[in-house]
Amino acid sequence: MPKVRAGQVELEVVRRGVGMPVLLVHGFPLDHSMWHTQIELLSSRWQVIAPDLRGFGGSQALGGTATMEQMADDLDAMLDELEVDEPVVLCGLSMGGYVGFQFWRKHRARLRALVLCDTRAIADTPEGAAGRLKLAETVLHDGTGSLADAMLPKLFAPATIEREKEMVQSQRRKILGASREGVAAALRGMAARPSAVDYLPQISLPTLVVVGSEDAISTPGEMRGIAAAIPGSEFVVIPHSGHMTPLENPAAFDTAIQRFLARVESGS
Ligand code: MLT
Repeated sequence: MPKVRAGQVELEVVRRGVGMPVLLVHGFPLDHSMWHTQIELLSSRWQVIAPDLRGFGGSQALGGTATMEQMADDLDAMLDELEVDEPVVLCGLSMGGYVGFQFWRKHRARLRALVLCDTRAIADTPEGAAGRLKLAETVLHDGTGSLADAMLPKLFAPATIEREKEMVQSQRRKILGASREGVAAALRGMAARPSAVDYLPQISLPTLVVVGSEDAISTPGEMRGIAAAIPGSEFVVIPHSGHMTPLENPAAFDTAIQRFLARVESGS
C-alpha cells in the first residue's frame, strides 16, 4: 500500500476509482481493511480513499496522545498530499466518526457530505475516560490480547460471532497485530475528546446516520438522537448487526450508502 506523508506522520492509504471522493475512516482498534467490501464496491463508481489512521495498520505510530483533532489534521494533510481538491464525503465509523466531527469543525470547506456510522457525539464520562487511560497502560505493558478479548463481544452482535467466525477471527488478528503505542495513543485521545453534541444542530451538510440494530456501543436510541439533532439528516438502522455494520451486514450497509452517495452526487 502506498505511504503518504501527512504533516507529522506517514500514513498508508488505499486510493481506488475515479470521481467524487469518498473518504472512509475506520474504527478502533482496526484499520482500513474493515472497509474491504465497500472499497471494492464503491470504487466502481466513485473515488475511494481509505487510510490507516496514525498508529494503526501500516501507518506510523507516534505514541503519546493521538487526539481526534490531530487525526483529522492528518487527513487534511493527506488530502493535500494526494492533491484532492474536490470536497469529500467523509464516512467514519465510531472512532472514525469522532475524527469526522473534528474534521467538520476544522476543515469544513473540504466536506461535501457526512456519513456517521455507529458513533457517539458525547464525550467519555470521567469513569469511562479513566478506564481508557488504565487500558492504555495495560496494552503498553501486556500487549493487545486483553483488548481483543474485551472488544470483540462489544463490536459484534452475538449472532455475528456465531455465524461469521472467520470474519470475526480476522478482526481479532488485526487487534492482536496492532501497535501497542498506536492503540494506547488512540485510547488517550478518545478519553480526551470533546463532546460534539453542540455541533450537531450546526451541521448543514447532507448527512446519513447509520447504526446496527444491536449496536451495544453506540445504541440505536443514541444514534437516533444524533440524527434528530442534525437538520435534514437521514437515519438508517441496519438489521442483524452490532457495532460493525459494514462487516456484519454489508448488503444492507452498501445499499444505504450507495443510495446516499448517488443522491449527494446528483445534488437532490
Ligand atoms: C470504535 O469502534 O471505534 C470504538 O468502539 C470507539 C470507542 O471505543 O469509543
